Amino acid sequence: MSDHLKHLLEGHKQTVEQKMAEILPTCPVNAAIVDEAMRYSLFAGGKRLRPGMMLAVKDALGGETENVLPVACAIEMIHTYSLIHDDLPCMDDDDLRRGKPTCHVKYGEGMAVLAGDALSNAAFWVIAEHTRDKDLVPDLVTELATAAGTSGMIGGQVLDIVSEGAKPEIEAVREIHRRKTGALFVASMRLGAIASRATSEQLEHICEFGRRVGLAFQIMDDILDLESDAATLGKTAGKDLEQGKMTYPACIGVEASRKEAKELIDGGRELLVGLDPHGDLEALAGFIYSRLN
Ligand code: IPE
Ligand code: IPE
Ligand code: MG
Ligand code: MG
Ligand code: MG
Repeated sequence: MSDHLKHLLEGHKQTVEQKMAEILPTCPVNAAIVDEAMRYSLFAGGKRLRPGMMLAVKDALGGETENVLPVACAIEMIHTYSLIHDDLPCMDDDDLRRGKPTCHVKYGEGMAVLAGDALSNAAFWVIAEHTRDKDLVPDLVTELATAAGTSGMIGGQVLDIVSEGAKPEIEAVREIHRRKTGALFVASMRLGAIASRATSEQLEHICEFGRRVGLAFQIMDDILDLESDAATLGKTAGKDLEQGKMTYPACIGVEASRKEAKELIDGGRELLVGLDPHGDLEALAGFIYSRLN
């Protein structure tokens, strides 16, 4: 990993974690257990790639931290909630996440459901309360709600569940991955651009970049599930095959999957001409392909 990329990932991670700790709302004393469960999962680690990419968009477009950083925290809260629910016994039934026991293993299923719900609510509260320029709030909330909702992440999770055990079909898996994972990557890019008051042309290019790297991210996740191990991933490997998930490798094999991910990343990078003065988005896109966890 280059020094530039290492510095970038670590810097954004630290910035986001510090801000999340500062602004995550606290619960009344008699609901302290859900507070603990939310913080347990939110601060369990994680690459912080979605908020990191949002901050990279801000830096590329000259946006203001006071408008973008709260939104970056919000997308990480939505992402963490999606992981807590994704791991539940009624969904993927996983007991390891970010190198630790999953939220429901530690706090029970009821508390894990509620911690996820609470993180989702907190995300929208954080945008409304902490974005400095309030004129931006309606567009930001609409964008995030759409990306996280039934036409985005939740819709993809629905397709993921109902497709378990079905015959692998490349078009079907593309649709699942674009939604369950791609939608939040596109949202990271778009939210960063909107909060930086991008032009419509900048927004369009950044959005298409997000579509490509978002799909590539989930293709690589499928490959890592197949080829890596729990110690490296911080989550149990080999689950997709066991659960009959509709994955890229199941449809077209590992090598063709890797090739498609590479093409998506390269194509995404080509869209950045004139949009990435520091090379940060390009470096982060490369990380999506080369990451080990
Ligand atoms: C895992 O996302 C879930 C998927 C969408 C594949 P990440 O790999 O970004 O997980 P963390 O945030 O680093 O734990
Ligand atoms: C998760 O996809 C996507 C969301 C959480 C929305 P996976 O089920 O493949 O993610 P992992 O492998 O459990 O992290
Ligand atoms: Mg899943
Ligand atoms: Mg899962
Ligand atoms: Mg996976």
